Amino acid sequence: MSIVRSAAAAVARLLPDRAPDGLAAGSLGQPRDRVDGPLKVMGRARFAAEVPLEGLAYAALVYSRIARGRIAVIDSGAAEAAPGVLLVMTHRNAPRLAPPPLMGEDPRGAAGSKLPVMQDASIRWNGEPVAVVLAESQEQADHAAALIQVEYAAEPASTVFEAARSRARAPGSIVGEPAKLAVGDAEAALAEAALRVDRAYRTPRHSHCAIEPHAVTVAWSGDLLTVHDATQMLHLSRSTLATVFGLADRNVRILSPFVGGGFGNKAIWSHHILAAAAARMAGRPVRLALSREGVFRATGGRTLTEQRVALGADPDGTLAALIHTGIAGMTSHNDCPEQFTFPARHLYAARSILVSQEVADLDMVANAFMRAPGESVGTFALECAIDELAEQAGLDPIELRRRLEPERDPTSGRPFSSRHLSQAYRDGAERFGWDRRSAVPRARREGDWLVGMGVATATYPYYRMPGAAARIRLTAEGRAIVETAAHEMGMGTATVQAQHAADRLGLAPDQVAFRYGDTDLPSGTMAGGSSQTASVGAAIAAAGKALTKALLRLAGNDSPLAGLKPRDVVAAEGGLRHRDDPARAESYVSILQRAGRGELTVEANAPQPMEMLKYSMHSYGAQFAEVRVNAITGETRVTRWLGAFDTGRILNPKTAASQFRGGIIMGLGLALTEETLFDERTGRIMNPSLAEYHVPVHLDVPEIEVIWTDIPDPRSPLGARGIGEIGITGVGAAVANAVYNATGIRVRELPITLDKLMQAP
Ligand code: MOS
Repeated sequence: MSIVRSAAAAVARLLPDRAPDGLAAGSLGQPRDRVDGPLKVMGRARFAAEVPLEGLAYAALVYSRIARGRIAVIDSGAAEAAPGVLLVMTHRNAPRLAPPPLMGEDPRGAAGSKLPVMQDASIRWNGEPVAVVLAESQEQADHAAALIQVEYAAEPASTVFEAARSRARAPGSIVGEPAKLAVGDAEAALAEAALRVDRAYRTPRHSHCAIEPHAVTVAWSGDLLTVHDATQMLHLSRSTLATVFGLADRNVRILSPFVGGGFGNKAIWSHHILAAAAARMAGRPVRLALSREGVFRATGGRTLTEQRVALGADPDGTLAALIHTGIAGMTSHNDCPEQFTFPARHLYAARSILVSQEVADLDMVANAFMRAPGESVGTFALECAIDELAEQAGLDPIELRRRLEPERDPTSGRPFSSRHLSQAYRDGAERFGWDRRSAVPRARREGDWLVGMGVATATYPYYRMPGAAARIRLTAEGRAIVETAAHEMGMGTATVQAQHAADRLGLAPDQVAFRYGDTDLPSGTMAGGSSQTASVGAAIAAAGKALTKALLRLAGNDSPLAGLKPRDVVAAEGGLRHRDDPARAESYVSILQRAGRGELTVEANAPQPMEMLKYSMHSYGAQFAEVRVNAITGETRVTRWLGAFDTGRILNPKTAASQFRGGIIMGLGLALTEETLFDERTGRIMNPSLAEYHVPVHLDVPEIEVIWTDIPDPRSPLGARGIGEIGITGVGAAVANAVYNATGIRVRELPITLDKLMQAP
């Protein structure tokens, strides 16, 4: 023991300082490479549509061509006779299934729509699956699907937003927050204000374009259903499918080790249910991989919004009134009201505030969450209006925002947990060279190109979801296996949680294996709301505590640790040691060996996320854009970008920078090119392909610099707030404000296409 003690003491003298929360200063904060990187670049990461199963049948879907009505006749004879076809499933022969529990409405729900799937002849949106074909090959299934003839009895459908908005309703809540909030009488204050901005903004539908289209490979074994899926909500998907098929949760297993991008809608849609139902009918495992068109038709994206922002201010810019209201398109069978008024609830000090949201029901595929639902399009409206107010007040837009910094959350009254937006602006402005911007629009021209700069605030709430659990298995060799049903969608979950666990346990990252992506593991939480890192991190922290307790018990009286309590010790160098006396230490290997144990396993639940109830917890950022607009064609090129973020502690600068950049790039699409074209006569999406729905490509994306304050949030379990979604927020407004600075033209309707700029300012 004395050898162990002196060696530990020698090592302890070399140890760096500890972070305030007891985590060893070690791997977190280091730019570690992704642990899943090599598998992906070698093509060995197996995605849901690549799982090989014996006797696999391939599925193809047929989509309805009307928005509302009934299937009058469906002729599947030619399809059934086509080569290789095993089954054609329609509402006539589909098994009886319960409606899927809706995400947000039902605590067990992951479904994007609560409509029953293929249970009768009714049609509720243009694109709803009306038939599934199973065949021996994908080509045979696709061919047979094309042979199915459907006649419809159409009924009047709600597909025109202008008409639907006259029947708008206030939803019960906006993802848990009140649909309407008022502080004082904002309309009266606006009417009397010295400075006034009162504008309407429009944003279009967007479709999800993850690099991996949605796919499932499913197999039944008796009453056991196994689903290989691309999902961002494993356990909720399990309970959803269990409900639909009338199974116990334990009879459904979902595996999702790799997800090729998930931005809010890798949840449960009809294809999961149809694949599992068809597999049961055919007695074969089934693969159902949606085509790109299928993703547009059968899974939802961001809905359209019409927003009003009105600002009433004193001559010095101080806000007397802040009004943000509007309507989003929705359906009666989902619950994603696009929370675009969220930023206005906490960003600015104002003597009176009114925020209010309504929804207008449409017959369309259920709209869904899509990266910063609400904040991405809400900041477009709010931050463009702030830019207009700055101009009226004769202030630099950054100076105006500095003057409007609130001391407490302006609608909840709660203290901010950690808010350093002004610092993000200062740091960003200096690095970007904001002082080179002309306050006068259309002042800089280089040849045919008008050059401008714009800025906007980024913001996204901190969320931590309840219900995460984690298990740690410590091996006789002193390695740890950390298990929780988390999701890796490419953002670095596995890498960062391995780093976290390593620091938590005093191990090197390569001594930790992080296992995730399987409902057989302890429950994770959804990878949504930028919440997973904090949610899962809290569970791993709790498991770490439980492990320390168990180790001290196991160490007993013959250990240098004898008599110490968990609060007396820290994990370091592959063992535990006294907090203040490094000589009192014992390694994990030694503790387990003396106890004659091959392994020590603990499991723990994360504590309830109470921090969100006491504090206003949000992330912030300042988005800086430089654009060039062609004076003749109206073409906009974004030439420089800088994002300065205040998102708590950065856990891995490499994966974090990539998250921020990814969000900003998606924001460039939102700003300039992305729009799901919806034919209001028929309710049909007209551009369901990457050829006609334009996401940014390499040549659209300039060098993007990202910097951060790296100030830990004292209320978050890891000091970190989420970073997955904030990057897209503020981007639309920063581009629009830069376009105004370049051209003198204010565009208040996304996307900012050429036609909107081919006019005199
Ligand atoms: Mo995000 S829209 O919560 O995946």
